[in-house]
Amino acid sequence: MVDKKFFPPEEEYHKPQVVKEAIWLGKEAIEKAPKIEGVPTGIEGLDELFYKAEIDPKTGKVIKKSLGGIPRYSVINLTGVSDTGKSLMAEQFTVKQASRGEKVVFVTVESPAPFVAIGLKERATAMGLKFEEFENNIILIDASSNHKLRNNLPDMFETLAYVYRTYKPKFTIIDSITGLFEAKEMLARQIVRQFFNFMKKWYQTAIFVSQKRSGHEELSAEAAGGYAVSHIVDCTFVVAKELVINPYQARLYGAEIGDLVRFFRIDGCRLCGHDTKLHLMEITELGLVKIGPTLAEIRKRKYQRKDLKED
Ligand SMILES: Nc1ncnc2c1ncn2[C@@H]1O[C@H](COP(=O)(O)OP(=O)(O)OP(=O)(O)O)[C@@H](O)[C@H]1O
Ligand SMILES: [Mg+2]
Repeated sequence: MVDKKFFPPEEEYHKPQVVKEAIWLGKEAIEKAPKIEGVPTGIEGLDELFYKAEIDPKTGKVIKKSLGGIPRYSVINLTGVSDTGKSLMAEQFTVKQASRGEKVVFVTVESPAPFVAIGLKERATAMGLKFEEFENNIILIDASSNHKLRNNLPDMFETLAYVYRTYKPKFTIIDSITGLFEAKEMLARQIVRQFFNFMKKWYQTAIFVSQKRSGHEELSAEAAGGYAVSHIVDCTFVVAKELVINPYQARLYGAEIGDLVRFFRIDGCRLCGHDTKLHLMEITELGLVKIGPTLAEIRKRKYQRKDLKED
């Protein structure tokens, strides 16, 4: 016979209760909601790829309006295999925000802070900006040299909260989030969710760089940063590269055999409308990422030239 004093029936442990604070009426929720607006990224060709619906006051019709940047308060997963331009894009975005007078937190997990600073300064110069004019708008947190930060997440969150209170930044970059769950990939989702919730709590617009483990499913978020990280974040951008080794690829990409072609795609963004097409991407000689035309546009341009026949 079970003694009820020591083993009460399960329903007596926790009587179901109504959690009233979790219930919102639409009006209340929308009043607390952030406005959908774009943040210019400093990456040529990217800002035009995000839209929202608006009602044209003149015609009363629904129109597609460009956001002119990534959606504010979004947490973006920027993923790709090595050397696909993720860090360059993160640096360009950081420099752009800092040059606009915004404070940006850059959590570096891959290279020590002074090396990241060199990259940021290089990016600024290539963008035609003077790094000295806004260098103190960038707050670097070095989790690359500091194993305590990398391996002890409570310390990391405490440090981030201190930086948020002290400098009041609106932007956070983590390069890379994958580096924060090295050798414990089964915790990837849990760790990414903690960072995601933290970004939301502090109203950050954030980029999490995540390293794709394999070239398999090159142009999707598959195998990116562990398991199903893209389900947690608001948006996923995928960057990829391919070596042109046959005439078919050369025709398709408008490239020469032996060229390295780069690609960019928005794999999903739940905060606003967006382009979904595969774009060519370029890394200039000065190390600036530019998003180029879609493959369909390249094909169209090609057949506008009379000397080429449809293949
Ligand atoms: N300063 C630069 N000037 C010109 N090209 C550069 C410069 N820096 C990087 N690149 C080119 O851009 C490529 C992508 O660099 P990036 O550091 O952004 O890669 P990544 O996607 O962050 O890779 P990883 O996952 O290994 O960190 C490099 O392999 C190189 O070809
Ligand atoms: Mg990198």
